[in-house]
Amino acid sequence: MRSTNFGSFVVLAISLGLPLMATAGGDAAAGKAKSLACQACHIAVAPTGDTPRLVGQPEGYIVKQLKAFKAGDRKSPVMSAMANELSDTDMANLAAYWSSQVPGTDTMVLPEVAAIKKSHMVFPKDFPNGFVLYNTKNKEEGNSVSKSYVNTVGLQAAKANKPLPDGSVIVVVHYAAKLDASKKPVLEEDGSWSVDKVVGYGGMEARAGWGKDVPELLRNANWNYGLFGVDKTPRAELNHAPCLACHKPRAETSYLFLLKDIKAKANRK
Ligand code: HEC
Ligand code: HEC
Repeated sequence: MRSTNFGSFVVLAISLGLPLMATAGGDAAAGKAKSLACQACHIAVAPTGDTPRLVGQPEGYIVKQLKAFKAGDRKSPVMSAMANELSDTDMANLAAYWSSQVPGTDTMVLPEVAAIKKSHMVFPKDFPNGFVLYNTKNKEEGNSVSKSYVNTVGLQAAKANKPLPDGSVIVVVHYAAKLDASKKPVLEEDGSWSVDKVVGYGGMEARAGWGKDVPELLRNANWNYGLFGVDKTPRAELNHAPCLACHKPRAETSYLFLLKDIKAKANRK
């Protein structure tokens, strides 16, 4: 439906001699530069398939949605984080850019966008040597337990009340909870659930230069994110843009949600 309308607009625009890029509010050329961050999720293959297409959507609709994400009227942690960083002018320019793109042209991931999506993180080969456990969390969904570890570089910085510097590494180990005969998780003395086998790993790591391919809208200093299988190999299909987006508002706590737990651990030692 939308593409038919757009098609007739193109015909009309050409017959009237209107410049095709002309739009009501925003500056599409200015929006194009900022759109690289959006492309990391909104172009072609979203692994989860829940990312709507933006090309050819009406300009006014795009602006309205961005404002709703910013105001919290439309809920999405990732999109709210993005929209919070956009001024009204940014929104207008981005909307003008996306709306000016012809539907069906969003099948190609530019090399600079592929570079945003790709994480440099590999599983730290000495883990758990040199790491300290700082958080254990029971997760109701799927009866799992996650244990979060920080390396010495990160722990020392937290102790000194400094931002976690390049060289900091966090690893979260996801376990299946051990279940009793009635399929209830078995409790440890501290209230955490007993763990059975490892089901996978997540992590984040900061290294010099790792932020350089990430546009400011998504950049988490030099942090990159990783997901790893039981055999510790990186998940090949991982796009770490959603990780960057959701952790971005945590800039003041080194992009971590649980820095306070690392500090508590550091000061207990
Ligand atoms: C990290 C991934 C990610 C990035 C980066 C991202 N988006 Fe989104 N966006 C999403 C997801 C996921 C949704 C669906 C949200 C929902 O409704 O749950 C969405 C929804 C939207 C919508 C609503 C679309 C509709 O059909 O209703 C707009 C508009 C939008 N994004 C614009 C942008 C713009 C502009 C940028 C760049 C500044 C951007 N997004 C960057 C993931 C992303
Ligand atoms: C929807 C928001 C959201 C997204 C997307 C997200 N995270 Fe997180 N992350 C959290 C929250 C909230 C926590 C705090 C721990 C918890 O509640 O389990 C967290 C914690 C973490 C931690 C522990 C360090 C800390 O305290 O922040 C790591 C490592 C991590 N996430 C990695 C990732 C990776 C890798 C991805 C992408 C595959 C990702 N996250 C995507 C919200 C998010």
